[in-house]
Amino acid sequence: MQEQIRPARTVSGSVTLPGDKSISHRYGMLASIAEGDSKIHNYSTGADCHSTLDCMRALGVDIEVSGTEVVVHGRGVEALTAPQTDLDAGNSGSTIRMLSGILAAQNFDSRIGGDESLSRRPMDRIMRPLAEMGALIEARDGRYPPLTIHGRKLKPIEYTLPMASAQVKTCVLFGGLFADGDTIVHEPVRTRDHTELALRDLGANLDVASRKITLHGPARLHGRELQVPGDLSSAAFFLVAALIVAESDVVIHGVGLNPTRSALLDVLAGMGASIRVLDIKQTGGELIGDIQVRKSPVRGGVLEKAQTAALIDEVPVLAVLGAASEEGLVVRDATELRVKETDRIATIAENCRRMGLRIEVREDGFEIPGKQQFHAAELDSFGDHRIAMAFSIAALAADGPCTVANAGAASVSFPEFYETLRRIAG
Ligand code: S3P
Repeated sequence: MQEQIRPARTVSGSVTLPGDKSISHRYGMLASIAEGDSKIHNYSTGADCHSTLDCMRALGVDIEVSGTEVVVHGRGVEALTAPQTDLDAGNSGSTIRMLSGILAAQNFDSRIGGDESLSRRPMDRIMRPLAEMGALIEARDGRYPPLTIHGRKLKPIEYTLPMASAQVKTCVLFGGLFADGDTIVHEPVRTRDHTELALRDLGANLDVASRKITLHGPARLHGRELQVPGDLSSAAFFLVAALIVAESDVVIHGVGLNPTRSALLDVLAGMGASIRVLDIKQTGGELIGDIQVRKSPVRGGVLEKAQTAALIDEVPVLAVLGAASEEGLVVRDATELRVKETDRIATIAENCRRMGLRIEVREDGFEIPGKQQFHAAELDSFGDHRIAMAFSIAALAADGPCTVANAGAASVSFPEFYETLRRIAG
């Protein structure tokens, strides 16, 4: 699917977003192994989160979906059944990496894989700690999907993550749900803590001290009513749109504001962006609020270390903002971008070049000068949802109409993206 995007004179109006992708995955998996029914409100419409539900169904869980309302009839931690076919995680790294922690602890074997992009993403990062827990997993070339997982009783471990990855942390903690004793995870830098919050909410016994998480296993989880906040990583596209298109004023409703996710807002505000957070509420362990953003000059700056890790999913659209900023943007310590749905450093750079934007690429990031003119171009998502959306936003500020090839990739996290964009960008 190709989208044509015309330059926008202004971006204005109000926006609601799909439910947070990270939280939807966790709620979908945990509600499946909880005892009793869970009603999940505002479950993500994105294809990735529906891959998770399809996998849970294939594992014998009864799940009803009606729009964004999902009812999961959980039957407890021991109720999953052997799948009749291979589990399909589609494009979703979160599904394969987090679910593997659960699959490794079952008393049956399973095989889980996904699409071409997922098949190129490294899984050794979860295979190593799961092997320490006693799991037996085979992978293509030792590290790529599909994974053949021979389920068995896992033992608790103490594990220090070698990289900042909430997916790996979650995988280990999910395995720990089935182990007798304390599973302990140390994080080098703090990553999103949706797993810890969801586990607590559903009744697991968990201690969190700074960057050390201790799960007292085995756990018994209890189904309940759960509310998924709007996805801040999806909000990022409209925040940047409003910041780079003249006279813009956008309000985004019901956005998740978990402090381990909201670095984006602090960074933008620190660069001078006019952003206000209105009406903050708490739902479950998660914070939720409305964000108002107005066109304003943005200085740009340097993103590095823990800050880069905290907004890794927002880097593609921040690159676009960087090119429009006063002083440009330097991104360091972002090697993880090389193993996302695409090599995002490469796909950002390629689309920038197509728009006539200067960018200097490094192994762990890039440097993009500010005050650049965006030129009309034929852009390409290369099958990556965040690249599709980031460069569709760039197209709003171009000097003529742009096309985005493979724009359908946006539906991985945000199927309503183009409809919403058309409404607020005229
Ligand atoms: C996610 C963690 C991050 C992020 C991904 C979702 C999660 O990945 O990029 O989109 O839900 O835990 P890593 O754990 O690989 O850093």
